[in-house]
Amino acid sequence: MTKVYGHRGCKGTYPENTLLGFRQAIKHGVDGIELDIHMTKDGEIVVIHDEKLDRTTDGAGYIKDLTLEEIKQFSAGNQFTHLPNYQEELWSQERVPTLKEVLELLAPYPIDLNIEFKTYMFEYEGIESKVHSIVSQFGGQRKVIYSSFYLPTILKMKKINPEATIALLIHNDGLLNQPNYLQNLPLSALNIAKDIVLSDSNLVKNLSYPICVWTVNKEEEIKQLLEQNVETIISDFPEKVLHSRNER
Ligand code: G3P
Ligand code: CA
Repeated sequence: MTKVYGHRGCKGTYPENTLLGFRQAIKHGVDGIELDIHMTKDGEIVVIHDEKLDRTTDGAGYIKDLTLEEIKQFSAGNQFTHLPNYQEELWSQERVPTLKEVLELLAPYPIDLNIEFKTYMFEYEGIESKVHSIVSQFGGQRKVIYSSFYLPTILKMKKINPEATIALLIHNDGLLNQPNYLQNLPLSALNIAKDIVLSDSNLVKNLSYPICVWTVNKEEEIKQLLEQNVETIISDFPEKVLHSRNER
């Protein structure tokens, strides 16, 4: 059965990459959550999509130039006034979480966690071993998938922990046309942009990897990918995908 992961928690309805959003995804009954990480100036792993605070918080500046204490001063919820569930007082208190805080939140729930390393802009020296150490301490027994558009990062994770599940993020079909190159990499899965999978109904059958598809929000596309029996669907509206899947 296709698994359903909440993209950045519940990005379509709650502030992305926040504990509030992750709690909501858990309430919906997701099989896993997807989140993004960067590293602060003082070497902490924080859960945020962009390399800067500007879009998703009321702060500004690069994560790499700020300490965790500085980042924690800003709200990670009060920029999302356009979302239907917006509640000023509650959402304003939301902060950029650390990876450790997310793992602590997830501790009672045996759901998967897809950690996307946002390392293509800055490599963040030592981020892989820090993440390995945090997940070893606080990850419990859950399945953790380490993904990135930046191949060296996930290969480093595999070197640190040969048991690690690593997935390459693919947003154009260039690499898919080089099967020999892919086959020589120790990849556990491919996380592919939805348009590539939707445009070729034989792709999933022909690829010898579990395929995780992102970011799938439209009913028609959800149905099509459920038909194709993809391994995982990542959605901003995981509740919609769960509903479609559970109706089948
Ligand atoms: O993990 C898949 C997807 O999240 C990659 O794109 O920009 O939403 O992080 P983005
Ligand atoms: Ca992501």
